[in-house]
Amino acid sequence: MRHVACQGERLGLREIAEADVTALHAIYGDSVATQYMPFQPRSLAEVAGLTRQAMEAAAAEPRRLYVLAVVDAASRAVIGVARLYISERHPHSAEIGFGLHPDHWGRGIGTDLVRLLLAFGFKDLGLHRIWGARSPANLPAQLAMLTAGMVEEGRIRHHVHTPHGWRDSIVHSALEGEWTDR
Ligand SMILES: CC(C)(COP(=O)(O)OP(=O)(O)OC[C@H]1O[C@@H](n2cnc3c(N)ncnc32)[C@H](O)[C@@H]1OP(=O)(O)O)[C@@H](O)C(=O)NCCC(=O)NCCS
Repeated sequence: MRHVACQGERLGLREIAEADVTALHAIYGDSVATQYMPFQPRSLAEVAGLTRQAMEAAAAEPRRLYVLAVVDAASRAVIGVARLYISERHPHSAEIGFGLHPDHWGRGIGTDLVRLLLAFGFKDLGLHRIWGARSPANLPAQLAMLTAGMVEEGRIRHHVHTPHGWRDSIVHSALEGEWTDR
């Protein structure tokens, strides 16, 4: 799918552009926003490189990677980033990842974002399964995914290697039928 544009009540999702690098760096370069992610805060140059890679991946056929800017519905300012990845071996399934700038935490926006990603994946992309992995310590991500309807599936031991050592992940998922019934 090309030129993604999804609209929720408080949020929108759209394709990222080179002009978004500073706003994306405010998230990926922030030590609080990345505290549960398996990498050190990124430099501006690293975020610029990742943005270019994401834009290139958006042109692939079939498209497997969607890196989307999360924008405030009223101001259109970039307040977060969302990622949806469809692996070649599991084309009916996608892994999601998401993050908001800390200025926007604690107002239910994270939960709205997960809901919007599920709607995009199930309705627009026709996926069957959407899943996400979080740090066991990431309570806001746990609650946002549970409230949006993503059940906890279990624990992957030593799933990711972080600057602090091996870390387990807790996997959440939603299935198309369950989502349609909600
Ligand atoms: C995960 C994230 C998107 C949640 O965003 P948010 O807008 O703060 O989430 P919400 O306001 O929708 O809150 C979700 C739930 O967590 C709770 N919560 C939020 N911040 C919390 C905190 N610091 N401590 C405890 N609970 C918290 C809320 O009360 C809410 O619970 P409820 O559904 O029972 O009311 C945000 O914390 C973030 O961007 N974190 C950094 C990136 C990240 O970790 N991404 C997840 C990768 S899996």
